[in-house]
Amino acid sequence: MFIKGGITLLYRSFGKTNEKISVLGFGCMRLPVIGDDPTNIDEESAINLIRYAIDRGVNFIDTAYPYHGISLAQGGQSEPLIAKALKEGYRKKVKIATKLPSWAVETREDMDKFLNEQLERLETDSIDFYMVHGINKTYWENLKELGFEEFLEGAIADGRIKYAGFSFHDRIELFKEVVDHYDWSFCLIQLNYLDDGYQAGEEGMKYASEKGLGVAVMEPLRGGHLAHGIPPEVQELFKGADVEKSPAEWAFRWVWNHPEVSVVLSGMNTMEQLDENLRIAQKAHPNALTDFELDITKKAKSIFEEKLKINCTGCGYCLPCPSGVNIPENFARYNDYFLFGSPETKDVYQFHYEGLIMENERASACIECGVCETHCTQDIPIIQELKKVKEFYE
Ligand SMILES: NC(=O)c1ccc[n+]([C@@H]2O[C@H](COP(=O)([O-])OP(=O)(O)OC[C@H]3O[C@@H](n4cnc5c(N)ncnc54)[C@H](OP(=O)(O)O)[C@@H]3O)[C@@H](O)[C@H]2O)c1
Ligand code: SF4
Ligand code: SF4
Repeated sequence: MFIKGGITLLYRSFGKTNEKISVLGFGCMRLPVIGDDPTNIDEESAINLIRYAIDRGVNFIDTAYPYHGISLAQGGQSEPLIAKALKEGYRKKVKIATKLPSWAVETREDMDKFLNEQLERLETDSIDFYMVHGINKTYWENLKELGFEEFLEGAIADGRIKYAGFSFHDRIELFKEVVDHYDWSFCLIQLNYLDDGYQAGEEGMKYASEKGLGVAVMEPLRGGHLAHGIPPEVQELFKGADVEKSPAEWAFRWVWNHPEVSVVLSGMNTMEQLDENLRIAQKAHPNALTDFELDITKKAKSIFEEKLKINCTGCGYCLPCPSGVNIPENFARYNDYFLFGSPETKDVYQFHYEGLIMENERASACIECGVCETHCTQDIPIIQELKKVKEFYE
């Protein structure tokens, strides 16, 4: 525990690495941007946020090759932005985590090519935590065939990376297979009170931890849905607790309640969000929630499950759609109606749909090519769901 900038941040051991990592890590997939262009990062604000977090003890920064780019196969602006943010002495205060773009790897040589390019983009000699990104069945079979193990061993031996891990989006059975296949140091899984049994879930978290892997968590707020956009019934439920907590605090504290979890990554794009998450992180003790509080999160989960129609986290991995459909925005507008609307207020939601999504980006522009479905981190039948959105709003 260190007191920095008025914040007493907590640290946890990171599995077999023996590194001490801050319980809150900075996720650089949702940095502030200028206008609607994800490649146009608001550099001054983003650098301020990252340095402010580091000054208060955050020592884990997570990025990936495509973040803030135009497609999964091209380098985005997140890695170069981090290089800028970590100048003036900040690099030595933090661990960088980034990822091999699994979907873009066609040959064994590609793996070295991407890693070397990432070292240049990040302006560093060594990446502390290097992950095979977003493993699913398809990427996994390809990576094994191409010999990813030899690549990771080589990169550790020559110092280009310090620890090897993977991030994951598929079923628990595959998760266990991946954990057992290689001597990983850590993993990054999606975990929040809605997704306790989804993908790796709590079962995967325990499995990985028992095998000595450090467990990092992504999407603790489900991309923001558990912090803002809370249905009134959940708000009421939260008000009934002994100690008042914001929706974000309920979600974070549920994840940190697990002793197996070391670091929770959150994408924060305003100072208010960062301040709030740092404040909550000071209470991130394991096994700290009472049975009564855990029961409240269980009830909140049931309400969400009843109301949320499409499981989209807004991660954007499905973009760009060759036909221009703004997939996450279509799903967000549809979910909004079922979370907050009623037949009497349908017009308001219709107005938002038409106002916020240009005609050529709406559900009806889908030509059913299927490209997006192969990249969806939540395995959503996107074509089918877009048809529902079209029927509802168009
Ligand atoms: N490897 C992978 O496959 C993968 C996939 C997804 C994520 N990740 C990594 O994991 C990180 C974390 O995931 P995530 O960004 O989805 O985390 P998250 O914490 O679930 O969602 C971040 C979003 O939550 C909102 N938010 C954050 N703090 C808030 C607060 N105090 N109050 C209200 N809203 C708040 C913001 O939404 P608004 O912008 O709407 O305000 C923010 O963009 C990513 O940044 C990325 O580095 C990796
Ligand atoms: S299936 Fe539809 S939404 Fe998906 S990429 Fe193709 S056109 Fe776009
Ligand atoms: S549809 Fe899937 S890939 Fe696209 S934003 Fe939603 S969860 Fe992410």
